[in-house]
Amino acid sequence: MDNRKLRYGLIGCGAIARIKHMNAVSFHKDEVEMAAFCDIIEERAIEYARQYGIEGAKAYQDYRELLKDDTIDAVIVATPNRSHSFITIDSLEAGKHVLCEKPMAINYEEAKAMAEAAKRTGKILTIGYQNRFRGDVQYVKAACDDNELGEVYMAKAHAVRRRKVPTWGVFLDEYEQGGGPLIDIGTHALDLTLWCMDNYEPKMVVGNVYHKIGRQRNTGNIMGDWDPEKMTVEDSAFGFITMKNGATIFLEASWALNMLDEKEAKFTLCGTKGGVDLNDGVRINTVKHNKLIVERPNIDGEGIPLIEKPVDNALSMEQRIFIDAINKGTEVVVKPEQALVVSQILEAIYESGKTGKAIYFE
Ligand SMILES: NC(=O)c1ccc[n+]([C@@H]2O[C@H](COP(=O)([O-])OP(=O)(O)OC[C@H]3O[C@@H](n4cnc5c(N)ncnc54)[C@H](O)[C@@H]3O)[C@@H](O)[C@H]2O)c1
Repeated sequence: MDNRKLRYGLIGCGAIARIKHMNAVSFHKDEVEMAAFCDIIEERAIEYARQYGIEGAKAYQDYRELLKDDTIDAVIVATPNRSHSFITIDSLEAGKHVLCEKPMAINYEEAKAMAEAAKRTGKILTIGYQNRFRGDVQYVKAACDDNELGEVYMAKAHAVRRRKVPTWGVFLDEYEQGGGPLIDIGTHALDLTLWCMDNYEPKMVVGNVYHKIGRQRNTGNIMGDWDPEKMTVEDSAFGFITMKNGATIFLEASWALNMLDEKEAKFTLCGTKGGVDLNDGVRINTVKHNKLIVERPNIDGEGIPLIEKPVDNALSMEQRIFIDAINKGTEVVVKPEQALVVSQILEAIYESGKTGKAIYFE
């Protein structure tokens, strides 16, 4: 058996690379080594190579130089949203497998081009929706797959923060990120909802997008105040999505909203046989013997979004699946053709918010 470790490159040496990926890779040191690092801020690449790299790990300022290294098997793309598509496509074309951060891209067209590049090159592409691997979500997915809820025809995807506007990096910059809370955290909630419903056929979207609290100063943000002149993305957005099979999804996303009931990377599913909500642990509601029942499976507090507490199991599982897909040819869980539908719906909510019109899909 070939004992050679997979050699990874990291493109984008920022917060998520450290909190999530370097952490995750450390669970799989026997199989993976960090051989190269790239950041447009060269000192970051050098520092990450020193901290997380193998001896002799390379540091680059231009990702295209990293891609020329034929000994690199796979790359993690953890740059701002705008560059996900071209860095991923170039990486696939250079023969690398890719784990790209969420959202897949800033719009559907780019996401589709990424999925096509993966098909064309035969390389693996997966997207960093690690919330799928949380204990509570895995339980609900298994319940859905076992048809315990029946047909899920109404769902809510929640990504609502009262005041948690990310003020580092380029999160407030529309050009770099393609949007604010909707594309940043709404994307997780919608991904989870579509995955559990196993429904990737949207029919119509209507949305509203707000720049209200983002225009103000000193609003009590726990991640520090921002300059309203520089915040070009929305502070909240809401979508109403109907699916081809008649199902309805409400999506709510905010970084700043005057409400107390915060819920992030959570969802509510309502089916013909039962329902699920994740707002107070997993609660499955059904009817048994003509009585209303609520089941509360005991799943060790694994429903916490990454931003609040990195969950070792979820991060480790995301890497495990990527490594197995490369080494053993097994399927990835977060498939490009699923992630691109998330991007398609988010883009339609932005478009509907701008035009005031409903967006219909072919
Ligand atoms: N999975 C999650 O839950 C999660 C959480 C946070 C962020 N993210 C995603 O991760 C990505 C990065 O977010 P972050 O918080 O780490 O941001 P960050 O600003 O901390 O890090 C991004 C890094 O990329 C570098 N960079 C920018 N353009 C580059 C390029 N062309 N080539 C190489 N390096 C480049 C920047 O200099 C910076 O160091 C975003 O897409 C974000 O949506 C995912």
